[in-house]
Amino acid sequence: MYFIANWKMFGDLRTLNSLDKVIKFSKTDKKKKFKLIYCPPNTLIRPLSKRLKKTKIEVGAQNCHESDNPGAYTGHVNSKMLKNVGAKYLILGHSENRQAGENDKLINLKVKSGIKAGLKVIFCIGETLKEKKNKKTNQVLARQIKRGLKSIKKKSKLIIAYEPVWSIGTGLIPKPEDLIKTVSFIKKKLGKTSPKVLYGGSVNSVSVSQLKDISSIDGFLIGGASQDPKKFIDIIKKIYN
Ligand code: PGA
Repeated sequence: MYFIANWKMFGDLRTLNSLDKVIKFSKTDKKKKFKLIYCPPNTLIRPLSKRLKKTKIEVGAQNCHESDNPGAYTGHVNSKMLKNVGAKYLILGHSENRQAGENDKLINLKVKSGIKAGLKVIFCIGETLKEKKNKKTNQVLARQIKRGLKSIKKKSKLIIAYEPVWSIGTGLIPKPEDLIKTVSFIKKKLGKTSPKVLYGGSVNSVSVSQLKDISSIDGFLIGGASQDPKKFIDIIKKIYN
């Protein structure tokens, strides 16, 4: 089971001290039941991966520039650079970036560059509230998968994060029966060798009770609640208790 922390644009060097609790907790997982991955802002990838060196917690990035090569792209970093400082995973297609203008074609280039650099891509998909109300969820997800993963051969190596846009940061989560149907739709779309499919959007120690029995979900992408080590640990504890 994956528990991926998406810190978004939060955290500084001092914040890293709070992770000692999570490191200690991760050592209690003798049977290797869960996989913890932290995706901090780029500024923290190096110090965080150094700090986590002797642990089984891994580090990822939240986005990248699509160019494989260095170049005149002020303010950007590419996937090779992220790998170079310790990232092993890479979140792409997050709805906050889609809303800021990233389209499927651009995301597809980024996915290719991430794979090429040897990063494990966490590919985010999800419908807006309007699309949900218009019963377009499956159509939107199918389009995001088809275009965003165009020409990607080994899809089983990816991690898919289903994150309804209307659920992110709102406290709302899909009804379990809807979520079961959607996850099954996503897995079918991806064929026989379906990658792991995670759920993301307002996951916390309370909402996770409604999600934990959905056996087709392979883990969670957690935003707000992942910034507080206690809240993050509580989510994991709820799953295994
Ligand atoms: P949230 O964010 O858990 O704060 O809703 C999830 C995400 O954006 O990945």
